[in-house]
Amino acid sequence: MTYGDSTRSLKAVAAEHVPGNPVGPVPVPASAYHIGADEDDALDSYGRRHNPTWRQLEKALAHLEGAAAAVSFGSGMAAITSLLRVITEPGTTLVVPADGYYQVRAYATEYLAPRGVTVIQARCDEMCDAAGDADVVFAETPSNPGLDVVDLHRLAMQCRPRGALLVVDNTTATPLGQQPLALGADLVVASATKALAGHHDLLAGYVAGNRADVIERLGRERLLAGPILGAFEAWLVLRGLGTLGLRFDRHCQNAAALAMMLRSHPAVASVRYPGLPDDPSHGVAARQMRRFGGIVAVELADVDAVHALIGRSDLLVGATSFGGVHTSVDRRARWGDPVPPGFARISCGIEDTDDLLADIESALGGAGR
Ligand SMILES: Cc1ncc(COP(=O)(O)O)c(C=O)c1O
Repeated sequence: MTYGDSTRSLKAVAAEHVPGNPVGPVPVPASAYHIGADEDDALDSYGRRHNPTWRQLEKALAHLEGAAAAVSFGSGMAAITSLLRVITEPGTTLVVPADGYYQVRAYATEYLAPRGVTVIQARCDEMCDAAGDADVVFAETPSNPGLDVVDLHRLAMQCRPRGALLVVDNTTATPLGQQPLALGADLVVASATKALAGHHDLLAGYVAGNRADVIERLGRERLLAGPILGAFEAWLVLRGLGTLGLRFDRHCQNAAALAMMLRSHPAVASVRYPGLPDDPSHGVAARQMRRFGGIVAVELADVDAVHALIGRSDLLVGATSFGGVHTSVDRRARWGDPVPPGFARISCGIEDTDDLLADIESALGGAGR
């Protein structure tokens, strides 16, 4: 039986049908477990090594990403930096996004480059060429914040002949928006802080894939370095996954409607959304994405115009995250992203579409629809 995405998300977090047991997942916040006289690594022993709630979450995440296994971490950056430490060494050539999440770039240049890793920064449209010289290619698509798209199948074809490892950050798309492993990636990494958890109230991250060697070394890295996810947060992500299908459909519906409205609004200089038929990324996005996501990138006149939009709106919150239930706006130049001062990332929440459009339209200055 092939299920739809809401059903798959629900099944992924369903507990076994045992009479008398809770229907939903249960958090196990233990640091210490009873241990027997003999060493047995299959048994839970200590909270930095084992946790039953992680295992439930990892099983669900692996299922959603189409992976053999997943390893959870205390944030998206904990997952990314742990993975990069495991798969690079002095002499490795690593490609990272020039137009993706800025702290990945910062980690590569500030931490890995001084330790002998050659770091090449490439924009989405340069990734395939850059992959020709690489041992590890780290791609992010759609990119945060510009929403450019990398052709993942083509990139995987570039990586394969040289044996370069292809890692894809699936945070903005989520596994309901795209399946990088099925498109040829070796590993997926993501922040579950965003749409997966979905309620602006925790940080979490994970790596998923079919490379048993890397997954095993990541488990060891997590044990030794300790960037673990709390059991309560793991449980909240599991709860979030149960409604992911519903929420993500609304995020995408709101984003598509908002992008259409903004592209003809006089206060808007430009709009990017991979679902817009005339967006430069639409062709590739339509081939590789199942849904176009909940984020719209918009350029307004200047800094004041972004502040005025948030200030006049009844529904928008100014916040630097995305994928939550409330629609949020972030002026990305304030964080140093290479974008114009009036560039804002709008992460659509789950408000009723008509309410959200009317609110943003009036906050932009009342030009009629
Ligand atoms: C694309 C992308 N990857 C990774 C991260 C890092 O995730 P976290 O904030 O959970 O560490 C972010 C955070 O915004 C992101 O946007």
